[in-house]
Amino acid sequence: MVPTREALRFVGEPTWAALSGNPVTAEVWESVHEVPHVRIGQRADLVVVAPATADVLAKAAHGIAGDLLTNTLLTARCPVVFAPAMHTEMWEHPATRANVATLRERGALVIDPAVGRLTGADSGRGRLPDPPEIFEFCRRVLAGRPSDLAGRHVLVSAGGTREAIDPVRFIGNRSSGLQGYALARTALARGAQVTLIAANVALPDPAGAKVVRVESARQLREAVVEAAGQADAVVMAAAVADFRPASRSDSKIKKSGAEPDPIHLVQNPDILAELGERRREEGAGPVIVGFAAETDDVLENGRAKLERKGCDLLVVNQVGDGLAFGTPDNAAVVLVAGGDPVEIARGPKEDLADVVWDLVAARLP
Ligand code: CTP
Repeated sequence: MVPTREALRFVGEPTWAALSGNPVTAEVWESVHEVPHVRIGQRADLVVVAPATADVLAKAAHGIAGDLLTNTLLTARCPVVFAPAMHTEMWEHPATRANVATLRERGALVIDPAVGRLTGADSGRGRLPDPPEIFEFCRRVLAGRPSDLAGRHVLVSAGGTREAIDPVRFIGNRSSGLQGYALARTALARGAQVTLIAANVALPDPAGAKVVRVESARQLREAVVEAAGQADAVVMAAAVADFRPASRSDSKIKKSGAEPDPIHLVQNPDILAELGERRREEGAGPVIVGFAAETDDVLENGRAKLERKGCDLLVVNQVGDGLAFGTPDNAAVVLVAGGDPVEIARGPKEDLADVVWDLVAARLP
């Protein structure tokens, strides 16, 4: 752990030392017999600068080495990852843009900052990506994963739709959006341009994705249809309500004491089936991936659904046993049109996402 002097004004040296179990300093003049300003960089397998301020990016781009961190950056021959964090104006300033471009040209990996609350009352682009995103990015760099989706545009839907009954009530489902967000994050890490259509998800936007927020199935359909035209692949991870109330009351429904009125339901559009149908009609279109949560006859129901909806891949989850909804882990079988099923053992939703992208990448022209 190598802080800058400025970092030590936020969190003191004893805290870093106690948490890391290592001596911590920002200076090159301590333990000089070990030549730390050279050795730390030389021995590193990966250097991660998080948060990377506009100041540190500028120093790194120009090779200025006034403290232990910037010396380390000059001596490191391993991959270097910068996770920038600063106010939007600083991130967008031509000086910072040029410094980021220089660093990227030299092979440094600069993660795009997230959009959200910044220091003070401001919000906008410049927020430090969430630690799990930085971790995932680094894990991939160390694993030598390829950027096989570079130049591709993928569309992912995530979360669960809500169908309004009245201004305060809705029919919804348990989908948290975790799997869809993991798909978006992994696609970003593999170099794709990502449009993420999020239905009622309370998760931070993945850094670098274009996020469109929707509520109902019909809004989700509109957003998907609009973006699908430019997409190389569409992954429908969202749990879409099959039905909605035939009418929405403009005022809150009161309990009158009498028997409540029944709620009449009408069918929602089937977005996945529509995408499959459109591709069939046009003879070309994106790779289409559906998800299906099943409780019984999982494989049989999944096969039928794959056919019915005309998709290339169907990720079938067995619901229950603490899997699928709201948990970080998932297990599934991916049914493949014209191919053998691929079983995915229980593990992080990122791992499942990677298998899906592997299968998608193999189907891209
Ligand atoms: N889906 C969709 N539009 C809908 C319903 C579902 O696009 N109106 C998509 C989901 O995003 C998911 C897939 O279809 O990718 C499977 O959804 P599921 O609800 O399991 O399929 P259904 O057709 O509703 O099948 P059933 O209710 O018979 O299980």
